[in-house]
Order: sequence, then structure tokens, then C-alpha cells
Amino acid sequence: MKKVIVAGKLNVDIFYYLDSLEVFSNNIAKESMMELGGKASNVAVALKKLGVDVMITGCVGTDIFGEFIVKKLGEFGVDTSHLKRCEGDSGRTAIAVTKDGQNTMLNYPGVNEAFSPEMIDWTLAEEGDALFIQFGIPADTIFELSSMAKRAGMMVYVDPSYPSDIPWDAFYYFDYISPNERELLQITGKSSSEKAVKHLFKKGVESVIAKMGEKGAKVYLEKRILDIPAFKSSTVDTTGAGDSFNAAFIYGRLKGMDDEESARLAALAASITVSRKGTTSSFPSIEEIKSEIANRGLKIRL
Ligand code: RIB
Repeated sequence: MKKVIVAGKLNVDIFYYLDSLEVFSNNIAKESMMELGGKASNVAVALKKLGVDVMITGCVGTDIFGEFIVKKLGEFGVDTSHLKRCEGDSGRTAIAVTKDGQNTMLNYPGVNEAFSPEMIDWTLAEEGDALFIQFGIPADTIFELSSMAKRAGMMVYVDPSYPSDIPWDAFYYFDYISPNERELLQITGKSSSEKAVKHLFKKGVESVIAKMGEKGAKVYLEKRILDIPAFKSSTVDTTGAGDSFNAAFIYGRLKGMDDEESARLAALAASITVSRKGTTSSFPSIEEIKSEIANRGLKIRL
């Protein structure tokens, strides 16, 4: 089986489920839970649930949250031997989810910001078939990891879901970049999706996947645009839908599916994720995906 190297943020998420949310007010939650989180951990677990071997790299803190993150990743079967324990607090996020399933997050990056290029284990270049990377770690580490992966012949898939000063030179190494509509404009500074995509192509990105939530996704390839509709499902909690999409897309490509089939599979996985609470606990297993494909009579060949 192919192996994916995952890098980016590792967090502990504390969820609060409320009817509505008001700022400057004492909001009382109806339910609360603590989960493993952060986009790197989430994608690693989502891939593992699909049956893909995963190695994760990054920093967790020397606090109890650091222990929790390593333990949980291990329970899901993610290889944590390339994780570093860094002096300080682990990344953490408070997530308020209102009854329409939308979330508001308070992020504290903690030692995710301490993952410097000197901490990269270069032997990873011999291990993976693909690299998933997220913009929640220092820009120079993103640059070094993606150039290492590209030189080693890996597929490089990037989620730019975090403000970053990453140099444009790094974009040359990205096979796929998967922003949401807001991030697409933000990272490029352009006024429309079309202009933003053109800009990314000019910088060397091979394909742009614009994630659009309940409107589905658009995959911009060099010569055509694929419109991928969202699958209908009842939205309970949208947290982690993008991570689920990313993992299933990577799974599809590693299985030899083309971009369109991979994106349809990704949209299906995301639709299952939004119908459940939490992140890692909401990602579908490969068996669940298979039965969903059968129930809906879809033409996706796993
Ligand atoms: O994509 C969801 C993730 O974003 C959460 O797990 C949270 O930690 C934030 O980084």
C-alpha cells in the first residue's frame, strides 16, 4: 500500500455545541467534547480510516495535550515516530458549533510554530508516495518539505488554510492546492477566483481545487475546469469537512483514479463528515464509503 507523509498543525480541539453564538456574552453549550484536531492530524486519521499508511511529522508540546495527541494518533494507527516533542504548549482550538452546523474557531498555534527546517528528518524522502502539507507551520519548513517531496517524486498536495508568508518559489513544487473560496483570494491577493487560479498556475501550481462547502468544488486543471457537485446530507457539524475531502482526494489519486473521480469521492467523504459531530470521529471508514456508494448507486470505482 502507498504511504502518505503528513505535515502541518497538530492540535487538541475542544468543541462546544450551542444553539447560537454571541460575542461579548456568556454562551452556554449544550454539549462539549475534546478530540484530536489540527489539519495535519485530521488528514492523517482520515487517510488511515481509508486504509492508507500514514507518517506524520511536526511538533507537539511538552504539556498533557502533547501526550494526548501522540496517544490518539497511535490509537488510529498513524506512525508518530517522526513527531518532535517541543518545549512549550501544544496547539489547541476552541470550536463553537451552532445548530446550523457552522463553526467559529479560536486557534492557539503553540509549538506548531516551532517546527523549523532543522527538525525535518530527510529520510522521509525515501518513505512516501505523497506529501500532504498545510500552512500551519513555518513557511521555510513548508518550502523545504515540499521541495524535498517533489525531488523524491512524491505527489505534493497542499491545504493553504492558514495565514502564511510562504514565498512564491514554493508554489512551484505544489501539484495540488486546495483552498476554500476565501483563501483562494486571500493567498493570491486577486479579486476573482479566475484571476487567482491564473496567478497560481503562473507560479507553477499544477491544479487548483477550490472547496466550496455545500456548493461542492471546482477543480481547475491546465486545460479544463471540473465542476464537482456536493452530495446532499443533513449538516450537523461542518468541522473537518475540508480535511476529509483532502484525504479522500489523495486516496483516490494514489489508487489510480483520475482527478474527477477522486474529487467526487472526496465530496462524498465530506458529505458524510458534515453529518456527524467532531473531526476525527466524523471521518468515514473505507467500509462506510463503500456502502454509501452502493446505497446511492454511484459510479465510483474503489
Ligand atoms: O479543519 C478543522 C481543524 O481546524 C480543527 O481540527 C482545528 O484544530 C483547526 O485547526
